[in-house]
Amino acid sequence: MSAYEFIDHTHDVVVVGAGGSGLRATLGMAEQGLKTACVTKVFPTRSHTVAAQGGIAASLSNMGPDNWQWHMYDTVKGSDWLGDTDAMEYLAREAPKAVYELEHYGVPFSRTEEGKIYQRPFGGHTTEFGEGPPVQRTCAAADRTGHAILHTLYGQSLKHNAEFYIEYFAIDLIMSEDGACQGVICWKLDDGTLHRFNAKMVVLATGGYGRAYFSATSAHTCTGDGGGMVARQGLALQDMEFVQFHPTGIYGSGCLITEGARGEGGYLTNSEGERFMERYAPTYKDLASRDVVSRCMTIEIREGRGVGAEKDHIHLHLNHLPPEALHERLPGISESARIFAGVDVTKDPIPVLPTVHYNMGGIPTNYWGQVLAPTPDDPDRIFPGLMAVGEAGCASVHGANRLGSNSLIDLVVFGRAAAIKAAEVVDPKTANPPLNTASVEKAMGRFDALRNAAGAIPTADLRLRMQKTMQANAAVFRTSDVLKEGCELMAAVAADMKDIQVTDRSLIWNSDLMETLELANLMPNALATIVGAEARHESRGAHAHEDYPDRDDENWRVHTLATVGEDDAVELKYRPVHLDPLTTEAEGGIDLKKIAPKARVY
Ligand code: FUM
Repeated sequence: MSAYEFIDHTHDVVVVGAGGSGLRATLGMAEQGLKTACVTKVFPTRSHTVAAQGGIAASLSNMGPDNWQWHMYDTVKGSDWLGDTDAMEYLAREAPKAVYELEHYGVPFSRTEEGKIYQRPFGGHTTEFGEGPPVQRTCAAADRTGHAILHTLYGQSLKHNAEFYIEYFAIDLIMSEDGACQGVICWKLDDGTLHRFNAKMVVLATGGYGRAYFSATSAHTCTGDGGGMVARQGLALQDMEFVQFHPTGIYGSGCLITEGARGEGGYLTNSEGERFMERYAPTYKDLASRDVVSRCMTIEIREGRGVGAEKDHIHLHLNHLPPEALHERLPGISESARIFAGVDVTKDPIPVLPTVHYNMGGIPTNYWGQVLAPTPDDPDRIFPGLMAVGEAGCASVHGANRLGSNSLIDLVVFGRAAAIKAAEVVDPKTANPPLNTASVEKAMGRFDALRNAAGAIPTADLRLRMQKTMQANAAVFRTSDVLKEGCELMAAVAADMKDIQVTDRSLIWNSDLMETLELANLMPNALATIVGAEARHESRGAHAHEDYPDRDDENWRVHTLATVGEDDAVELKYRPVHLDPLTTEAEGGIDLKKIAPKARVY
């Protein structure tokens, strides 16, 4: 028996994470009368969504013609034909409704002269199924859109009596004997108490795992906690090899400069002062999709046309734009450029470099957010009692590459969808079954072992080795040799978790232990990423494999499923991409010929 005592809580639903998707799910569940708890390791409005800048995509047509079919086409093409067609249709169709809901909840969007929601161009968003000019589809609250959404959703959730458990760290999922999720065990960081949450539905909204890499726009809290918890239950992670590099992280700090900067007219130059994107993407230029722009920047640097003393970065120009436009539309990044690069954007270019930004992969789900535990006979088998939304999940709408501003809309569309589905499948009138004590014991055994870890390697040292390995060996461009070496290096890093050293044994504000638990969560995410990348012998979206430079739809238009064993061995399986839309053309859906695979040029 574990020596730990618990405080018990019983809810219909427990949402883990209070970023955009977690709060939208929490709000939706509470609105429908489900007894809903949201547990979060940081104060809700400090969740990483607060850092989202440029905006949220929806075909509102406020600034010119647009429709959901064009948005869907752009998403399919952006995904490099790896996204699930039903999920992408759901996203594009529901997006306007989800944004108007946000408006009515009180999100302070920027406005046009007529008072409509302001929309800006973003990379890869076009008109006329990629044949027309860029579209203004990205709804913005200046360049602080995530901040505006997060604060509004938190206020609305409180209004609907959702219960918040703030600065509670989720240790592990609790599973019933017959293999359903029953709840989650949490550690309350400020007083050291331990909490068992019994729930009919657990929703993982824990965000991405950008901190597996050395340089990332993600907050230090983005440690793939949901992926780690799921992997420890023997469930698969999907499409983890697809890691997005945002073209414009500030050189040195990695701090994000929104794509909205290029949407508002900014452009990139090399050491010769050339607007090189015109060469690579003659139609959409600096507004090509992010994987394309990141690769072009990397090629420029590799071919000796980088800027700076070491010719190792690129310039982003905003200094030709009117200062009042910068002040109104891009105040946040003007400040970031000053603080982190010492640049006055009205006068000088910003030094930028492709920086890890987003994980397309995650916990596999259907478009209702229900977690999938595929079998050979049923690739869409639903795992009972568990949902995943936002960057933690993989619905999959982003496939091999996500379009900018499709993340915020993913958060709210699928957070909302999870709430709609939960209202159908969760019965508030039935009693919660008792928790499986064996599952609780197992989780506490792991927690206790890490708490008392007396090895030789400080957590920060091992984390750095992981981050440097991932940065060097699973980068913008990949080769078989570099990936194979990365798999060996990461296996050695993971094995060294057994020799980890935690020096603080207390339970109150023990950041040493918390960072060790986070590192343990990052590890299966990183392993699945590099092993999945090594195995995928093609180039698609963000996975640019130099030994296999072409997309191979015949063999590789499949989702990767990676399970990470207790011995850290990664087993790979694959499941088919959903090719069927939700509605036929006769029912008002998209013409399937429009989204048939073809060369992806911008
Ligand atoms: O560039 C940005 O503002 C980031 C947006 C996104 O990742 O969707």
